[in-house]
Amino acid sequence: MIRVENIYKGFNGTPVIKDVSAEFQSGQTNLIIGKSGSGKTVLVKCMVGLFEVDSGSVFYGDRNFTTMSRKERRNLRTEIGMLFQGGALFDSMSVERNVSFPLDMFTSKTRKEKLHRVNEVLERVNLSGVNDRFPSEISGGMQKRVGIARAIVLNPKFLFCDEPNSGLDPLTAMVIDQLIQEITEEYNITTVINTHDMNSVMEIGENILLIHKGEVAWRGTKDQVLHANEPELEDFIFASSFLQEAKAAMLGKK
Ligand SMILES: Nc1ncnc2c1ncn2[C@@H]1O[C@H](COP(=O)(O)OP(=O)(O)O)[C@@H](O)[C@H]1O
Ligand SMILES: [Mg+2]
Repeated sequence: MIRVENIYKGFNGTPVIKDVSAEFQSGQTNLIIGKSGSGKTVLVKCMVGLFEVDSGSVFYGDRNFTTMSRKERRNLRTEIGMLFQGGALFDSMSVERNVSFPLDMFTSKTRKEKLHRVNEVLERVNLSGVNDRFPSEISGGMQKRVGIARAIVLNPKFLFCDEPNSGLDPLTAMVIDQLIQEITEEYNITTVINTHDMNSVMEIGENILLIHKGEVAWRGTKDQVLHANEPELEDFIFASSFLQEAKAAMLGKK
């Protein structure tokens, strides 16, 4: 479980995250949704320490991340898997070396042990045998799966995915969503996913936080989405379906 309490974060005097409090449950896909620019990425970067909060606290279980020393944070980071937008694969490294990277960084396992673990997670994301390929040689969906394999290679208790579906067609996006949800349940991970994809909301929205202009506008589950009487949520659904159609039209043209 991860808990954030009264988080504030701004840049050069402009507030971006305003008094956000939330709980993210273990074994669940916790979604942070909201329009582009609403503050999802900044919020998550505050949670993993890529940004320092201006005020408020972040707890991993009962450990207060905000007051931790550098060393304690570094230890905690080994329990965190990340699949970040842009923070994609290393193009110059093979799939195997990409997935092995966290093991090289954070463990003293032997080469053989590392290879064993790499193959284990590659198998888990249905990518056995692609060890020697390079990111440019595999499809976008496969790249995401390699990213997931790399994110779970250290057996994380916590997993952060920032727009895991960006750039994927709707069908591949669904496969990735379902894979993330399966892994979350299977290993009882506290998974936090940023998305503005309405399909993801309806597929895997077990615990949803809607952010609007840096504030919590609504929270609930996918079953409550369509019955909620919240203008910001209706706005989000409308904008998202509009985007979806535009995307489908563009993909159709190719
Ligand atoms: N490093 C930064 N410096 C200044 N402003 C930033 C920085 N990162 C994000 N912002 C601003 O914070 C707001 C929220 O951004 P972001 O969290 O990326 O939105 P989302 O992920 O919901 O699309 C935007 O207005 C963005 O311009
Ligand atoms: Mg973002």
